[in-house]
Amino acid sequence: MNKKIKIKSILSGDFNDEIVVIKGWVRTRRDSKGGFSFVELNDGSTFDNLQIIAPDALPNYESDVKKLLTGSSVEAKGKITESQGKGQAVEMLAESIKVHGFIDEDYPMHKQRMSFEHLRDNAHLRPRTNSFGAVARVRNAAAMSIHEFFQLRGFLWVSTPLITASDCEGAGEMFKVTTLDLKNPPLNEGGEVDFHEDFFNKPSYLTVSGQLNVENYACSLGDVYTFGPTFRAENSNTSRHLAEFWMVEPEMAFADLDDDMDLAEEFVKEVISSTIKKCPRDLAFFDKRIQPGLIQSLEHVVSSKFARITYTDAIDIFLKSGQKWEFPIEWGNDLQTEHEHYLTETHFKKPVIVYDWPTSIKPFYMRVNDDGKTVRAMDVLVPRFGEIIGGSQREERLDILDKRIEEQNMNKEDYWWYRDLRRFGSVPHSGFGLGFERLMLFLTGMSNVRDVIPFPRTPGNARF
Ligand code: 4AD
Ligand code: MG
Repeated sequence: MNKKIKIKSILSGDFNDEIVVIKGWVRTRRDSKGGFSFVELNDGSTFDNLQIIAPDALPNYESDVKKLLTGSSVEAKGKITESQGKGQAVEMLAESIKVHGFIDEDYPMHKQRMSFEHLRDNAHLRPRTNSFGAVARVRNAAAMSIHEFFQLRGFLWVSTPLITASDCEGAGEMFKVTTLDLKNPPLNEGGEVDFHEDFFNKPSYLTVSGQLNVENYACSLGDVYTFGPTFRAENSNTSRHLAEFWMVEPEMAFADLDDDMDLAEEFVKEVISSTIKKCPRDLAFFDKRIQPGLIQSLEHVVSSKFARITYTDAIDIFLKSGQKWEFPIEWGNDLQTEHEHYLTETHFKKPVIVYDWPTSIKPFYMRVNDDGKTVRAMDVLVPRFGEIIGGSQREERLDILDKRIEEQNMNKEDYWWYRDLRRFGSVPHSGFGLGFERLMLFLTGMSNVRDVIPFPRTPGNARF
């Protein structure tokens, strides 16, 4: 086989007047009266297609070229020349066209615009569309930018386990992992399932967060992060919740909540601006077709100084706003989307970090403030979107941590290794979690989280 050249490098002018081989999938074919066909080929390397001129002098013109339909796979060899036509700078004049695979009649991808529902039903083929090709490239670029951000600052990437026995967020939204026979599980004397006979000798789950583990590494190595899949069995069928999503979780030793907020702000800005630089063509498409004004709103976030207010001050703003709320707000309640939007879009008109949240609505590991009523937690909210990051300073005092564990009816013994960090050289430390798909929604302007991860898992759906 001839070495293939990516369409991206051909379109950037690197191969003008050279003979090259390209391989990809047909987007469209149009036959001209002048004795040739136009075939638009896409190979995934970039948003745009390469136009191939296929003359009827090709030996397989009638037998193959005239049968090419959207989705056929093709290898084409020919000279790259300046295009005579409008719409593209260069094109290929084909010397040979080899067809790898034709299309069965029931191919579900059409040239015409298709609904996102139809594309979800065909998640195995949707990366062949403009939107999903662009999503895949932006996702790849954003992941690279995240690693670069941390690597440049000396953070170590730590792989935390996906199977765990502890519930980090204490919300009881975990998937069980078991090899027991569900029809006939072993029972103990009390008649309950005997997990001593299970694979891990105890109940185990898919993790909701890598935080507890990554805290251990921060408290030995300083600055670390984990980036991997997490799982939540929360039965919420919304456009922002997935049962399996990716999370980035940095953790810093010798850092308080101010350091954490500084890192989060710098991180959001840098990952956005670096992704814009890596994917200008894809973002131009999202800006034009999916979310008009997208790039401007991203640039606005990059150039803004994020507002920082306490939860208590935020409640004051809501109460004094004169707004009619769908969910009435009072001190102690969690914020709803309408409140997040009010802060970022109406009141501050830029990203906002809300910190010092009520103890009663936050997990056990957050550091308790001197007032006893609030914890050192922070959420980063961005315009047109809402919460993108949740983080906190961690409780480094063993007696207070133990009290919190008890208050939440958790089992202290299960967390012995986490508690040990507070006994052996305890330090103030802080971190946060960014939902990668939430970032993707924000970056692309797509409106459903099912469309920014290749194969979404949601209640009732683990297809593909
Ligand atoms: O606020 P959360 O639950 O925080 C944690 O899990 C902490 N342990 C993080 C840490 O401090 N290391 O989740 C963090 C982020 C949210 O802000 C949101 O962006 C995303 O994860 N997220 C989800 N994304 C998609 N689907 C879901 N079901 C999500 N739940 C949370
Ligand atoms: Mg949160």
